[in-house]
Amino acid sequence: MTDSIRVTGGAPLKGAIRVRGAKNFVSKAMVAALLGSSPSTLRNVPDIRDVAVVSALLRLHGADVGYNVASGELKIDTAALTGADAAHIAEHAGSSRIPILLCGPLLHRLGEAVIPDLGGCRIGDRPIDFHLEILTKFGAVVTQMQDGLHLSAPNGLRGIKHTLDYPSVGATEQLLLTAVMAEGITRLENAAVEPEIKDLIDTLQKMGAIISVDTDRSVTIEGVTRMHGYDHTALADRIEVGSWASAALATAGDIMVLGAQQRHMGTFLNVFRKVGGEFDVTPDGIRFYHPGGKLRPIALQTDVHPGFMTDWQQPLVVALTQANGLSIVHETVYENRFGFTDALVAMGANVQLFRECLGDKECRFGQLNFKHSAAISGPTPLTAAEITVPDLRGGFSHLIAALAATGVSTVHGIGIIDRGYEDFRGKLAALGATVE
Ligand code: EPZ
Repeated sequence: MTDSIRVTGGAPLKGAIRVRGAKNFVSKAMVAALLGSSPSTLRNVPDIRDVAVVSALLRLHGADVGYNVASGELKIDTAALTGADAAHIAEHAGSSRIPILLCGPLLHRLGEAVIPDLGGCRIGDRPIDFHLEILTKFGAVVTQMQDGLHLSAPNGLRGIKHTLDYPSVGATEQLLLTAVMAEGITRLENAAVEPEIKDLIDTLQKMGAIISVDTDRSVTIEGVTRMHGYDHTALADRIEVGSWASAALATAGDIMVLGAQQRHMGTFLNVFRKVGGEFDVTPDGIRFYHPGGKLRPIALQTDVHPGFMTDWQQPLVVALTQANGLSIVHETVYENRFGFTDALVAMGANVQLFRECLGDKECRFGQLNFKHSAAISGPTPLTAAEITVPDLRGGFSHLIAALAATGVSTVHGIGIIDRGYEDFRGKLAALGATVE
């Protein structure tokens, strides 16, 4: 399959598409299956590359993984679990961070785990220090070898008290996946409480875990000695829902997103409405549309749940280039998530980046040298360009920009979008987009 597409923009996206399970839950639920001594069934699984990557990693460790694309049913049997070497793990993982999350379950089931050296640039600005600190506190012994980090648990894993400096999604999942079968009680303060994490907690509870979540972001886990498989239906991918909603706004379109669930979209829906987009929540999904007239500018900052997700930021910024006035977006989760705006500027957008925190609160990056605030002045007509996509969400945003622009754009490197957007080519066709 070619890695470039030609997009003839300037026409509204109209029609209905379906969104299935959340990438950022499904991959973790697949890892959780390693803890069960009997088979697990995960439903509503999308056909995306991250699912293929995690399936390959689980198979590498001896698991039997079967996936039915049409029904979205994924079955995992871990009866024949075995270790794998760093080179093979790295080869199967690609740029995925999943090998880090395999550690807790593998230490419980096999007594050892490996984190291959994924390479500085691949992990880049996304360190794993929180993960290693947690695993070490549980009693894992981490040894740096030539091919990566080797972990063992010679004295078993024991419950811990831990406070996260920042409510990291991955670190919270790391702790959950390790604590459920560690000896005794674990208490985590300042946990991330994203809906995908709540769904992981529900899944682990089905497997036999004892986990309680308090209103103050603290989580208590009582370790159990044995867990079994689960049968669970994944929550909808709220990032993908927000991405298509932003595409509807940017192209002055009308998209029915089947499978979208309002209860996980509240913060996004408020912003969508404030900007001037309209939506109808139905039993089957959410219809997002541009009602005509002018879009309004907005000031917002990204944050951990229940704030505005960082992953919604990039697609929405494309829509904000069409709003009437000055919008301010302060990115507080990642220090470096505005690189994709260069391409928007080349297409005619007016976006300026700032090192200062332009939000109503100082964030961790305020005193550092990162351009993590953006001022977007609109409306600016976008014109076609040749673009190479930088990353998953930035890539989808470029695609939206190309669809909103007049003329024919060529977008290179679109394969990366397959990591998290199921059949986006088919969905674009269903929405009437002209893409080759
Ligand atoms: C998850 O990444 C998601 N990925 C990301 O989705 C998402 O953007 C992010 O959570 C925030 O919601 C998956 O679930 C696979 P974090 P994760 O740990 O867990 C810092 C997408 O496009 N940090 O919450 O890696 C980190 O640098 C993606 O689907 C440390 O400093 O995110 C960042 O600034 C991209 N040390 C912040 O915490 C650590 O050891 C939040 O990261 C770990 C993280």
